[in-house]
Amino acid sequence: MTAPANPEKVRRKPLVLGNWKMNGDVAASEQLLSGLLRGDRELPDALAGVEAGVCPPYPYIGLAAARLAGSRFGWGAQNVAHFEDGAYTGEVSATMLRDLACTWVLVGHSERRALFDETDAQLSAKVEFAHRAGLIPVVCVGESRSEREALMTEQVLAAQIDGLCAALTSTNEQFVIAYEPVWAIGTGLTASPEQAQQVHAFIRSRLAAGRVPGAAGVRILYGGSVKPSNAQALFGQPDVDGGLVGGASLVAEDFLSICRAAALRSIR
Ligand code: 13P
Repeated sequence: MTAPANPEKVRRKPLVLGNWKMNGDVAASEQLLSGLLRGDRELPDALAGVEAGVCPPYPYIGLAAARLAGSRFGWGAQNVAHFEDGAYTGEVSATMLRDLACTWVLVGHSERRALFDETDAQLSAKVEFAHRAGLIPVVCVGESRSEREALMTEQVLAAQIDGLCAALTSTNEQFVIAYEPVWAIGTGLTASPEQAQQVHAFIRSRLAAGRVPGAAGVRILYGGSVKPSNAQALFGQPDVDGGLVGGASLVAEDFLSICRAAALRSIR
């Protein structure tokens, strides 16, 4: 991949991923998956042009794979081991996820960075194993409320991106970035479309500065209280290529409506 001469002309297919986090059970997952399939059957045109998928908890990935196979929706995982295979009790490897036909894997979600102390070295290993297995890592970055208030947003994001640049540039494999301001996750507070655009443009420039090949073509998703009511305005921004959706992805209608908002981006 080489950087295009005119980055404005690069087309990035909108992408919406649902992060179910540690929610649901078999029955609720079945219900949610059938809701998504129904939405696709009823309004296929409204979803044309958007790529979409769900990241269920590990035990339900197989169920998602069985139900969603052959549909518009793909599936992925919320985490992956930073080891290849072997005696790592409780861990799930990238090759196992690929075996379940996962397309994406989230790497470095703020909940994992904060609650499980994930380090840049571990995240880099996750990116590398994901790539080796043929998965697309969705690398999550974002600042806390106090960091934003201290005007440190760009500094924090630069450090998070720079920490992973080596892993991201080691191959020409695809990856996605998700900007998830920690203060907007599960709080009902959302970055304004202008705030999101400003940060997304910064992330793109930082990738380019880190010599990430094809930075203009990398999809950068916004996450943090994305809802049907704010999705269209967020996805209307030039560098907001879709969303990583938490709470609203647990309600089929809401998730479908967010996917439809992203699809509008592809016909602008
Ligand atoms: P919410 O959409 O619930 O704010 O969660 C965002 C998120 O963390 C997605 O990964």
